[in-house]
Amino acid sequence: MKIELNENKVYLSNGSLKKEIHPFWLRERVDGEEFLDKGTQQRLFDPTTLNSEISINKANITEKFLEIDFNDGVNSKLDINKLALEFSNEDNVIKSIAKIKWNSNLKNIKNFEYQDDFFESKEMHDLLISFYKYGFVIIKNIPTKGNFIIKFANSIGSVRRTNFGEYFDVKSKKDPNDLAYTSLGLSPHTDNPYRNPVPCIQLLHCIESEVSGGLSTLVDGFTVTEDLKNENSDFYKILSEVKVRFKFIDKEVVLEDWSELIKLNDDKNFKQVRFSPRMDYVPILEKEKLDLYYKSRKKLSEMYNSDNYRIEFKLKSGDLMMIDNYRLLHGRTAYNTKEGNRFLQGCYIDYDSTEGKLRHLKRKFNL
Ligand SMILES: [Fe+2]
Repeated sequence: MKIELNENKVYLSNGSLKKEIHPFWLRERVDGEEFLDKGTQQRLFDPTTLNSEISINKANITEKFLEIDFNDGVNSKLDINKLALEFSNEDNVIKSIAKIKWNSNLKNIKNFEYQDDFFESKEMHDLLISFYKYGFVIIKNIPTKGNFIIKFANSIGSVRRTNFGEYFDVKSKKDPNDLAYTSLGLSPHTDNPYRNPVPCIQLLHCIESEVSGGLSTLVDGFTVTEDLKNENSDFYKILSEVKVRFKFIDKEVVLEDWSELIKLNDDKNFKQVRFSPRMDYVPILEKEKLDLYYKSRKKLSEMYNSDNYRIEFKLKSGDLMMIDNYRLLHGRTAYNTKEGNRFLQGCYIDYDSTEGKLRHLKRKFNL
């Protein structure tokens, strides 16, 4: 991509194709100190109040800058490299990290070690990259006193509070309002599918683990979705088209949200899975359609619950796991409370936290 000039018009050229850049697009980007706050990079003017008939009186290209006199008397030197970053129109930080599909064969994934100044370190950058590749990451040696999980979450971004509180204690309780608070095994599921929006990332911090059972399980919903698409496109299609109702009820709140079990983004690629078969309700559809839907959901559930996709491991005291709740399913094996305590603390953060932190660390370390 190259910027060219012709008769006071600015063009974007890739050799064969040449397109004029709208003068207003350039006028909005003037960055002299009276137009742009250097620290925040926020405009000091409101472009919606400008005359829309902006044109260029004079333009000149030097090595690194495009210098323009606009017809409203404003003159600006625009950094060509900065403009070029905008031409791709892509998020070049998060979307450039390719997801790595994995199944039960996943081995030797790198664990990270908590240390002083961790949140501002290059290690934190590498951790976030690994998280976006695999959908989860484990950090060892996180302090187990004083609800440190909250400090951890707030050092990346902000805790996403829910009606389970700022954080929740996952241990066997009397009169639980969720099966998570029992010692029963939990089959692979995503959390809070009934919430709008669904919390993006779950943090789970192991405080005590004295039982022989209670292994953590993870399944890559992205791998399963891609495999289903290849193996049975009809199943994939209906699961990514039919919206179902997820509902959660307790004494204080009734939460409800509608979504496909496989949610695709605008370009029809993977966006999110929701799976929690104790609380999903499909609407009343044509009998044939429901026939296909039930077969598809059954197949999806068999895949999620299959040994081929699941990894199992034991979290030790001090281990903290970050799980992408839009991509991975998580669960646990049953445990026996007579053997001792099993105590995890959990909380949620949203993608703006991890994305914002990763962009910041890339800027900081020039990566
Ligand atoms: Fe859960």
